[in-house]
Amino acid sequence: MNLYLDTANVEEIRELSWLVDGVTTNPSLVAREERPFSEVLREICATVRGPVSAEVVASDADGMVREARELAKVAANVVVKIPMTEAGMQAVQILSREGVRTNVTLVFSANQALLAAKCGATYVSPFVGRIDDAGGDGMGVVAEILPILRHYGFPTEVIVASVRHPGHVLQAALLGAHIATVPYGVLKKLFGHPLTDAGIARFLKDWQRVPKG
Ligand code: E4P
Repeated sequence: MNLYLDTANVEEIRELSWLVDGVTTNPSLVAREERPFSEVLREICATVRGPVSAEVVASDADGMVREARELAKVAANVVVKIPMTEAGMQAVQILSREGVRTNVTLVFSANQALLAAKCGATYVSPFVGRIDDAGGDGMGVVAEILPILRHYGFPTEVIVASVRHPGHVLQAALLGAHIATVPYGVLKKLFGHPLTDAGIARFLKDWQRVPKG
């Protein structure tokens, strides 16, 4: 399973660039940086070799396509994030025919993912945390999407998004999702286990008793 970092913070990306396979951003993450989007995007694309998702903000298909073409020019690894709306799917269809890679975002149901795949989306991003927040079963939606894509042989890959905790990453891996995009704090937690810390402490303590030669 590929791991992406869900952030627009270049420092976080630099620190973990040796590990992560790509990056996803969104307008809220970019706003936190208080820097021009084009500048941030260029830096991110130069820091990671893998796909970097950058989102359009237009709401009509023509506007999305125009923005997408500009974003795609920034770097070869840009993937254009398009919201899951009817206009968005029209834009995805046009962009897919032009060879522009797309990530359909704000997906909350398997039917939405099916439509995105039919329109030629490179990636679909079900927002598992937000589904859970609304009282639904985020990973259950991922479990529905994956066999649908497999059944019809769609090349579209699933990015498990809106990840809130390590359990989401584990469930994504168990389900065979292609990618999980993970916030910095959650990714750091994946390294740790209290028994690993306790084991290291015990080994170091015992090492003190080994006669020094
Ligand atoms: C994914 O591409 C989105 O940027 C992200 O996962 C949204 O997560 P949130 O629900 O924590 O804002």
